[in-house]
Amino acid sequence: MKKMTAGIIGGTHGMGRWMAGLLREQGFAVRVAGRETKTTAADLADRCDVVVVAVPIAATADVIREIGPRVKQGRLLMDLTSLKTEPVTLMLSHSQADVVGCHPLFGPSVGDPAGHSVVLCRGRGDDGFALMKDVFGKAGYPVLETTPEVHDKMMSVVQALNHFNTIVLGMAVAEAGISFPDLQPYSTPMFKNKMEMVQKVFTETPGLYTDILAGNPRTKKIIASYARVVRKISILMKSGDAAGLKKMMEDTAKTLF
Ligand SMILES: NC(=O)c1ccc[n+]([C@@H]2O[C@H](COP(=O)([O-])OP(=O)(O)OC[C@H]3O[C@@H](n4cnc5c(N)ncnc54)[C@H](OP(=O)(O)O)[C@@H]3O)[C@@H](O)[C@H]2O)c1
Repeated sequence: MKKMTAGIIGGTHGMGRWMAGLLREQGFAVRVAGRETKTTAADLADRCDVVVVAVPIAATADVIREIGPRVKQGRLLMDLTSLKTEPVTLMLSHSQADVVGCHPLFGPSVGDPAGHSVVLCRGRGDDGFALMKDVFGKAGYPVLETTPEVHDKMMSVVQALNHFNTIVLGMAVAEAGISFPDLQPYSTPMFKNKMEMVQKVFTETPGLYTDILAGNPRTKKIIASYARVVRKISILMKSGDAAGLKKMMEDTAKTLF
């Protein structure tokens, strides 16, 4: 039987390279394109059965607008973007192909699928969706089906709020005026864990995190809520009201857990 072809735009690094490896393992003939490759994004869009957009968030809309019309009806256009509403809307309006929005909830270094879910959003057509559900399912990744809107709402907490908090922590630690090497010998396990996260966000792929924050339509609301909480805690701490803060935390725990 003829192998299905897959073209990964942004397949030279990161999640695109991870996706290329996964599809190869599943028997697809895979080709990749980056900005410097001889094979272009347009070549892949013209020729492949499955076309995956895996470029940085800030470049995603332009790439979809450029290649979407070249992916013909009956084929599949999918993205791996960490946000889903805008890319899925653009794929639907710029292509007649089947459309699936995909967001693996982990980074490219993950090898073991256990506990690492992949979000899939239906865009257009059942065949492309079934194909991708099967690809991730066979590889052992739990698949979570949802809408782009629900995905982005969840990500406004799981990613936008979470990364915002990590950025605030990193900047506040820097403002304390004590260098990280000086802090290290005094670090508790909890502080070490948090600083590992700060180091990852500030030094590995800071652009990914700033794009996730800037691109989620709910970020403003989340930051306003964060500022309200900081104000409430500050008022209690200005008067040394530990009991008041403890009560606030106990009430919050009842809501959370
Ligand atoms: N990293 C994660 O943890 C993670 C997790 C889930 C989802 N995602 C999503 O995956 C997507 C890619 O993120 P990433 O972290 O994998 O990025 P990355 O490591 O920077 O890789 C981006 C890829 O896109 C290519 N590229 C950049 N601009 C391009 C353009 N204008 N046209 C064509 N190719 C271009 C790059 O190739 P060259 O540099 O060779 O040109 C590279 O292959 C994003 O939408 C992100 O939200 C990332």
